[in-house]
Amino acid sequence: MLQRRKFLQLSSLGLGAFSFSGFTKDKTATRKPIVISTWDAGIAANAAAWKVLGKGGRALDAVEQGVMVTEASQNCCVGLGANPDRDGFVTLDSCIMDENANCGSVAFLERIKHPVSVARRVMEKTPHVMLVGSGAQQFAVEEGFTLEPQKLSDDAKKSYEQWLKKSEYKPMINIENTNKKQTAFVPTKFDNGEWNHDTIGMVAMDAAGNLSGSCTTSGMGFKMRGRLGDSPIIGAGLFVDNEVGAATATGQGEDVIRICGSHLVVELMRQGLSPENACKKAVERIIKIKGAKAKEIQVGFIAINKQGEYGGYCIQKGFNFAVCYADDKNFMVDGKYII
Ligand code: GLY
Repeated sequence: MLQRRKFLQLSSLGLGAFSFSGFTKDKTATRKPIVISTWDAGIAANAAAWKVLGKGGRALDAVEQGVMVTEASQNCCVGLGANPDRDGFVTLDSCIMDENANCGSVAFLERIKHPVSVARRVMEKTPHVMLVGSGAQQFAVEEGFTLEPQKLSDDAKKSYEQWLKKSEYKPMINIENTNKKQTAFVPTKFDNGEWNHDTIGMVAMDAAGNLSGSCTTSGMGFKMRGRLGDSPIIGAGLFVDNEVGAATATGQGEDVIRICGSHLVVELMRQGLSPENACKKAVERIIKIKGAKAKEIQVGFIAINKQGEYGGYCIQKGFNFAVCYADDKNFMVDGKYII
């Protein structure tokens, strides 16, 4: 408590370039703008976000435009090209949150290419936070979004046909990591037909020091129809508090929801933990709840704080995240892990 008070005093004196942990000077301190995002798809997403941040743009615009790249990619795990639910339909979930605690979300949305942009419209143009299913789609169309054909991508079609042979649920840990050389957990072929989850979460701080975040996903491949994970849920898949920091999650959404994961990470940072240690504590809480079953799942958190420090942590080896804070600084960081 004493440390925290002292830090707040230092911050108010403009001496915030000291990290919470022991006031050691940290080379990442007060680094801004900065953007981080989950998995290796984050490199391209960060690059798009940086086009906004590098010109002094708003973090909210950056986190929308960043993950739109991933949503549009047919070769990736997010968006309309991704694996369908068990009935053969791709359903998308997304949310976005700004520095003023404004937030918007869509879930169980079909045939719309950019759910994150619909989520932003929900935030900006409705009195609500969340729209789902046909209502979300109706709103999107009214807002001018194109209703795309109900069609699986070639990869997703192959995966689904393969999955239908057994129709069983089986977790595929770290499926989001498309760089197959990075971990033994990564499948050799994406069209393996097994159960998986697909997400990009992004959090950013702009040059003005304001934070925002976004999260977008097709959810678990071959999920039950109507299933939602953490990604569209403010506090679970994403949380931003402009006084403290921002966090987002990836992995098995049910277990992120159980602990209100991203909100927990931000609250732990509020108590003085670094982004990395806050993510670690949240992961530890999931492991405590899951017991031996923890080794069957993957959850990863990433976070930034107001000093521009960043960190991530996951249950088991294989999770990584992309960090960008300059034109020539956009790189992958392996998430530390517990199991
Ligand atoms: N984390 C994404 C999901 O579980 O749907």
